[in-house]
Amino acid sequence: MKLVRLIYASHLASPLTKVQTQGILSASERNNAETGITGFLCISPKFALQCLEGDRVEVNLLYNKIVRDERHSEPVILRYVEPWRRLFPEWHMGYSSELSSAAPESSRWRDGSGFNPYMVESDLIENVIEELCERSEREVMRV
Ligand SMILES: Cc1cc2nc3c(=O)[nH]c(=O)nc-3n(C[C@H](O)[C@H](O)[C@H](O)COP(=O)(O)O)c2cc1C
Repeated sequence: MKLVRLIYASHLASPLTKVQTQGILSASERNNAETGITGFLCISPKFALQCLEGDRVEVNLLYNKIVRDERHSEPVILRYVEPWRRLFPEWHMGYSSELSSAAPESSRWRDGSGFNPYMVESDLIENVIEELCERSEREVMRV
């Protein structure tokens, strides 16, 4: 297997409802488990930011499927690398709804409505997602 990591940002057509989010996460759980894909999905009312990791062909097939989903548009690939290991090996699709408050220390990635993933440099985007993942894991542990 040739391991790749693809990270993209997109504009949501409208804020995802709870039912839509649950639908996406259960489809991801089902499909990604079958194809060996792992990753992390971060959402704000305006944007999606998603990391997909797995076999090169499977990741590209899934990306091309996801970008046809009418719940979002204007996808931009922020990063595409062949890493030596996965960042999110334990998640078929981890999830955080806290994207608007990502990277609070970096005002240069903010526009009028909060964090804008399209503004982040390619080599820093992984840190942003990892930080959101760690934050959501801490919240789960506190419950
Ligand atoms: C932002 C976003 C991220 C998504 N991520 C995934 C994903 O990681 N895996 C997946 O199978 N579907 C994902 N989807 C849903 C797909 O577009 C599609 O609705 C779903 O895969 C259909 O599943 P099915 O072919 O099993 O019916 C995502 C949709 C959106 C809008």
